[in-house]
Amino acid sequence: MKKELEELQKKASAELNSAKNREEIQAIKTKYIGRKGLLTQILRTLKEVPPEERPALGQLSNVIKASLSAKVEDALRDIDLAMKDEALLEETIDVTLPGRGVKYGKIHPITRVSQEICEILMNLGFAVVEGPEVEFDYYNFEALNIPKDHPARDMQDTFYIEDDIVLRTHTSPVQVRIMEKQKPPVRIISPGKVYRPDSDVSHTPMFHQIEGLLVDKGITFGDLKGVLTYFVHQVFDKDTDIRFRPSFFPFTEPSAEVDIQCVMCRGEGCRVCGQSGWLEILGSGMVDPEVFKVVGYDPEVVSGFAFGLGVERIAMLKYGISDIRLFYENDQRFLKQF
Ligand code: DAH
Repeated sequence: MKKELEELQKKASAELNSAKNREEIQAIKTKYIGRKGLLTQILRTLKEVPPEERPALGQLSNVIKASLSAKVEDALRDIDLAMKDEALLEETIDVTLPGRGVKYGKIHPITRVSQEICEILMNLGFAVVEGPEVEFDYYNFEALNIPKDHPARDMQDTFYIEDDIVLRTHTSPVQVRIMEKQKPPVRIISPGKVYRPDSDVSHTPMFHQIEGLLVDKGITFGDLKGVLTYFVHQVFDKDTDIRFRPSFFPFTEPSAEVDIQCVMCRGEGCRVCGQSGWLEILGSGMVDPEVFKVVGYDPEVVSGFAFGLGVERIAMLKYGISDIRLFYENDQRFLKQF
């Protein structure tokens, strides 16, 4: 029996030495020293051994069991360490790799130019107000002296939502909404989105305008010229030539469009300005008495001027961009430059 026990120890040790994972080690433990394992089976035959030999054999089996248990623990620890080493090798971090870098968002060029323009006008005392993009026909046309079937409606193709509700075609309706609510004096600007069914290199169906309105006693065309000249010289550089060209808008009388010297050719004449040397940048005029009557102002007492400009157009001229659609394609290579 002593031999059997020693044999068992040898075999168990050999198997433990070649075990490759935790499962195999556990299996060996169960097989040899588990409750129903081989060691237990051998000890069952102890009663067949002469009584005087039994204590020594009992002791020997205890020693073998203890030594095998320790060997199992060692083997488990070795396996764990080996697995950790392997994992560390696989997860190696190359600290010499270049970093990924953090990408920052930026303000869209249109938002930027719009903010810049508002800033300049706010410094002159204009307050910023907003109006709805879905607008009544009444505010978008009727109250601005553009009755139904009036040919002036052809100047602005329109997205209709219902018979009398449109996507506003310009920011001018905000003039009416403000004057309806407020007694003169009025000094506001109103930036926002406007909509027209148009799409080519210089038109997108949605674009941005900024409206201006100043009403008080004794306002003259000279005030209009002064404010807009100062404004243009702030947006473009100080020696940009500027001219006021007679025009027509139903809600202003007289009306003028403002041209600046072509920023591309400095007035020489080129493709961008159609060889004229001038670029139109905004519409303006003295508020038509008809509009004052609609909002309950007395045109004999107050007068005022208004203007409206396209933000995309100014941004294109400022940055030399030839296709308006670039603003809305979200190409990072384009947007990153601002
Ligand atoms: N609302 C006009 C347009 O979108 C621009 C405009 C012209 C606005 C003259 C004005 C103005 O306030 O006085 O074409």
